[in-house]
Amino acid sequence: MGDPGPLGRFGEHGGRYVPESLVGACREVEEAFREAWADPAFRGQLAGLLATHVGRPTPLTPALRLSAELGSTLLLKREDLAHTGSHKINNVLGQALLAKRMGKTRLVAETGAGQHGVATATAAALFGLGATVFMGERDIERQALNVFRMRMLGAEVVPVRTGSRTLKDATSEAMRHWVGVVDEAMYCMGSVLGPSPYPWMVREFQRVIGDEARRQCATELRAAVPDYVVACVGGGSNAAGTFAGFVDTPARLIGVEAAGGAGAADGTSGVLHGTRSMFLQDENGQVTEAHSIAAGLDYPGIGPEHVHLRDLGRARYVTVSDAEVIEAVMRLARTEGIVAALESAHAVAWVLRGELPAGSTVLITLSGRGDKDISTLRELV
Ligand SMILES: Cc1ncc(COP(=O)(O)O)c(C=O)c1O
Repeated sequence: MGDPGPLGRFGEHGGRYVPESLVGACREVEEAFREAWADPAFRGQLAGLLATHVGRPTPLTPALRLSAELGSTLLLKREDLAHTGSHKINNVLGQALLAKRMGKTRLVAETGAGQHGVATATAAALFGLGATVFMGERDIERQALNVFRMRMLGAEVVPVRTGSRTLKDATSEAMRHWVGVVDEAMYCMGSVLGPSPYPWMVREFQRVIGDEARRQCATELRAAVPDYVVACVGGGSNAAGTFAGFVDTPARLIGVEAAGGAGAADGTSGVLHGTRSMFLQDENGQVTEAHSIAAGLDYPGIGPEHVHLRDLGRARYVTVSDAEVIEAVMRLARTEGIVAALESAHAVAWVLRGELPAGSTVLITLSGRGDKDISTLRELV
């Protein structure tokens, strides 16, 4: 999982499919990121913020009771304990710091579950930047708590009423908006999606999850590396960041998608939001709607690097149903005292299927906490 080069390609996927008006802006972001990422001062500043503002390193928690029930050793990488409640803040602080360095005054972002929006609003407040966050009307209803948090932090939340009224349409609107404000605004992408350099840059900002977990596993496990590394996949940023720490080990990498939003399992190759990747499409190439109980996984595609990892046979992508996810949230809550986000519970749900050989060691990235999902769960359990 290295540098995809100036074309931003991961095998046949990735690239930069944007209108002429955004080509220069994407190039500017790429040049700024290349320069910043090679600058120890930038890296040091980001690492400092991740320590003092986010609370990194996040712990690695042995899930003792669940491990005993399953006959395996489960370790939870606790991104739910990061400031703002999910892994999204790792990437956003990186992009916001870059925006500052580039002399930008605003951040433009899309959000599904609202976690990326909250992280963006938080970073904007911290750096004195403006923030405009696009969010589908349906997600605004089911993630009301996060909408309130974003507004409290001073962000403008723009409701998107087109199409599925979820993440796909919010992303389209946000990118359209960026075209008009490129001079002053940086697009702050929430996952390993979008035109080059975003899939690569977001993975690099999220690799802190995998790098920390690798060090932490080395002290927890006799074999130093787990047999399985499991993470949920919406666009795939927490999974990409986690996998980056283990891609050079024998660990089996497993990405868990929502059954109703499975770009890797059910998608075909196409172009959306500036990148070539796998998307749910009808026979005419029209991108179809995803359906997931987890707003953050309600996206009809997957990041291009994941397609490449799958094609290489290095990672495997599986799906779980909404019902399995609800069961997983409850079981984790009652065995470990942790209420996970519905997104993160996808990774737990796959492990709970009990298909892993007895005695396996498993790292699960818990990408976020479940506070935002309480009203959804209250109606279901
Ligand atoms: C807690 C949580 N986990 C996972 C995701 C999915 O994003 P990604 O696949 O980029 O990690 C989201 C998206 O909103 C989220 O809020």
